[in-house]
Amino acid sequence: MDSNIILIGFMGVGKGRAARALAAKTGLYTIDTDNLIVALVKKKIRTIFAEDGEPYFRGLEQRTADWLRHYVRNTIVSTGGGFFMVNNLGAAGRIVYLHSSLDGILSALRSHPKAARKIRKRPLLQDADKARALYDERLPLYREVADYEINVEGLDGDEMAGQLVETLRLRGDDQAPPALPS
Ligand code: S3P
Repeated sequence: MDSNIILIGFMGVGKGRAARALAAKTGLYTIDTDNLIVALVKKKIRTIFAEDGEPYFRGLEQRTADWLRHYVRNTIVSTGGGFFMVNNLGAAGRIVYLHSSLDGILSALRSHPKAARKIRKRPLLQDADKARALYDERLPLYREVADYEINVEGLDGDEMAGQLVETLRLRGDDQAPPALPS
């Protein structure tokens, strides 16, 4: 297995949490597309939206997707909530849509100890009505792009990882990355 595992889904559903837990279970490495973009342009996501605008951010996502497709193998990739809209994502790996109702996502976010920070860092989550419209618009699109879907509502990271192992039929040891040269 050398194809990547790409987790898509709405903001705050737990893509990063699921990716880290799956990495711990399998020994695979994990990377996050928002983190790659932040490192590339040395700005926070909300600063990119405020200073450069959303289309510029989407361009950075496309660039990141192209890089993944060319250079990254055997890795768990957590993505920003709009990353699934890039061209040719399927060529970069197996795509798993993590599903939850919007109410499930919002109530988990609001009860998080760092709720204010988690909401503030997401420009598209500032207005509840707009977030709901975005959720409704994207739900069928996530499903169209995905190879697999998992319902993660109410699950913790470990439980999500368990579902991923089952769905993707992963086996612990043979997922570990090759040993580094000494
Ligand atoms: C976005 C989701 C965010 C981040 C950016 C845009 C979106 O990532 O990429 O704020 O369009 O849904 P998370 O899904 O990690 O919040």
